[in-house]
Amino acid sequence: MTELRTPSSQNYNARDGPEASQIFTSHFNRYALDLSTPSSVTILDTTLRDGEQTPGVALSIEDKVRIAQMLDDLGVDIIEAGFPRASQGEQEAMRKMSALKLKAKLCGLARCSRPDIDAAVDSGVNYVHVFIATSEGHMKHKLKMTRPEVKTKAVEAVEYARSRGVMVEFSCEDGTRTELDFLKEMHMAVQEAGVDKINLPDTVGTMSPAAMEYLVSEVMKVTKVPLSIHCHDDFGMATANSLAAVRKGARQVHVCVNGLGERAGNAALEEVVMGLLAFMNVRTNVDSRKLGMTSKAVSRMMGMPIPDNKAIVGNNAFAHESGIHVHGVLKDPSTYEAMSPELVGMQRNIVMGKHTGAHSVKDKLGQYGIVVSEEMLADIVEKVKRLAEGGKGVDDAELVALAMHIGQSEKQHRHVQLKEFTVFTGMNITPTSTVVVDIDGEIKRSSDIGIGPVDAALNAIRSAVNKNISLAEYRLSAITGGSDALCEVTVKLKMNGDQKVMSVGKSIGSDIVLTSVDAAMEAVDRLLARQKVQE
Ligand code: KIV
Ligand code: ZN
Repeated sequence: MTELRTPSSQNYNARDGPEASQIFTSHFNRYALDLSTPSSVTILDTTLRDGEQTPGVALSIEDKVRIAQMLDDLGVDIIEAGFPRASQGEQEAMRKMSALKLKAKLCGLARCSRPDIDAAVDSGVNYVHVFIATSEGHMKHKLKMTRPEVKTKAVEAVEYARSRGVMVEFSCEDGTRTELDFLKEMHMAVQEAGVDKINLPDTVGTMSPAAMEYLVSEVMKVTKVPLSIHCHDDFGMATANSLAAVRKGARQVHVCVNGLGERAGNAALEEVVMGLLAFMNVRTNVDSRKLGMTSKAVSRMMGMPIPDNKAIVGNNAFAHESGIHVHGVLKDPSTYEAMSPELVGMQRNIVMGKHTGAHSVKDKLGQYGIVVSEEMLADIVEKVKRLAEGGKGVDDAELVALAMHIGQSEKQHRHVQLKEFTVFTGMNITPTSTVVVDIDGEIKRSSDIGIGPVDAALNAIRSAVNKNISLAEYRLSAITGGSDALCEVTVKLKMNGDQKVMSVGKSIGSDIVLTSVDAAMEAVDRLLARQKVQE
């Protein structure tokens, strides 16, 4: 059972703990700590149930199983993996997850009915979440049932689920719009029936954090089993409401990765875990360093892009563009970051745009080993701003190209030139490429294979030039639509054993393979040029 705070730990927050060097929250948070707050909570992840109810999302059985494995690895305590009564596919997915013997408990959702509970238990779950609506509106319009009828159904369902030998969590659906006396009566009744945990759903996301603190304090007066909280984000309050509930004693939070879920979604796993830790020093079993990776994988599998400005896991969550901010962050990240990106498995990104200053340009060029004079730097910054004002963001490759162009506007000597290039590909043959390159006058020929024509071509170039070169990043984007689309390829290379030696090449063309080779040759040339400077 989780412990409550003791007076001596009341003024302790994450700024004093092991993450102190990576969390930079306001010192005022310590004054809002409460003795009712538990020191740790469990996390029930419902990405595969409420999250899958996100409009437009439907997962294959394989993807569901993959996500369950990922959530288990992340450290969530309970995985609510579906509503088994809904379909055979749902039951099959549950059975496959159950066979994995995950560390997390495997939970199935069920209405207060024996067939629902049987479908869950027979699919191999060891935890059942039963629910019935208890607000006046839901009972009257949806269930067409009276209070006593609802209570009887809930009690019978809890007793039956218990008799099937699984752990049972019970929810009063629309709990936050249920009359307080009836909500308490329901909690007491299911407790008597032997429930293991009671969840309080803010089904339509209609609570404020202050109201949540009041309601949880009231409910805690009669709730003797651990209380859980389930918040929807209709007013953008799901994370704040979840934290408010924990502040007053809730010991479990329902979450979805990336805040997925019905309508505006549920409380976001990454926000809840980090908010609990940073503001209240409430621990979970989640490994925060895996949050970024999990978020990206779930987004991809669910086909739900992460908004750039999404807290913790969005592309811009650790991006800095304005000169003042970049200058500050380069001197001390805490100036404009609330936590270290590494703590949540993300990376800092210095973005070049119309607010870019000399510090960011200098720092970014430095990452590619390019040192420029103050005069040149001013020139580059000016050009970046002009491009950005014209609506064109400047990425790494363009910045490097700009610096090269300004710095070597006279004549640029190419160390490596491509003399010949072929690639064979088709069905049932291994893509094979041959290249002939001229490296400072010396002719080299090499062939290699790959998993596709681009991969084979890049491998052949590496074999001819230097096997220590490895691909750090390959980016392909379509510039125009249609089958004859123009594509843009960026190739980032690094030299094995020396992480600091990096280069980038970029090319635009209509043939993906030739454009990739062109970009790779530019990057190879720059990498060799850099190595020569170092020798
Ligand atoms: O939002 C909700 O009320 C639910 C219930 C099934 C708990 O998701
Ligand atoms: Zn819900």
